[in-house]
Amino acid sequence: MPRLSVIVGSNRPRSNGLPIGSWVVERASALDVFGEVELVDLARIGLPFLDEPEHPSAGNYQHQHTKEWSALVAASDAFVIVLPMYNGGYGAALKNALDFLYAEWRDKPVALLSYSAGSSGGAPAAEGIKPVLGRLGMRVVAPSLAVPGVDELVDRDAGFRPGGETVTDVDALLAELAAELRAPAGGPPVS
Ligand SMILES: Cc1cc2nc3c(=O)[nH]c(=O)nc-3n(C[C@H](O)[C@H](O)[C@H](O)COP(=O)(O)O)c2cc1C
Repeated sequence: MPRLSVIVGSNRPRSNGLPIGSWVVERASALDVFGEVELVDLARIGLPFLDEPEHPSAGNYQHQHTKEWSALVAASDAFVIVLPMYNGGYGAALKNALDFLYAEWRDKPVALLSYSAGSSGGAPAAEGIKPVLGRLGMRVVAPSLAVPGVDELVDRDAGFRPGGETVTDVDALLAELAAELRAPAGGPPVS
């Protein structure tokens, strides 16, 4: 059974991404699709800014943190990236984590769930990252899911409490991801 990694693409202390990512893990675990579902919190992974001397496509990593990050991503068959919008785009921690590796991402399906305080739900951040994921050879499932007004939906104690529409939408997103997993790899990226 495939292994799903839900990447929280923010490393800000008290990030809203962690409760949202935990909620996505719960939804995905309830489906009979993924053998293992893992929460990957970039704050806990704690990567420095890219510090490998060789291009990641060489896969010749010098640092233990890179080797561990490589092993984690290589062991994953599919991803959900939960990403905030910062100043109209996606955050630096996520770009850095992507740039660290190369072959480990290739041909793997990825679904995007963006969020923001404002009304866009971070859709511009999701649009902005799609070319980067495409360059890495990832298969981006469409459409992405955008969650607006995130500060009203996250409670420090109760976690992420979305409306019913978001529940339906995330289940549809996960179903799309599962369908993409079943599709033969090697075709052109979706986005
Ligand atoms: C540096 C920064 C920039 C932000 N820029 C925007 C923005 O352009 N539009 C918006 O709607 N919200 C913006 N916000 C609000 C965030 O979308 C919201 O606080 C979200 O929870 C941030 O993600 P995080 O909790 O994972 O850090 C910004 C927040 C931060 C910290």
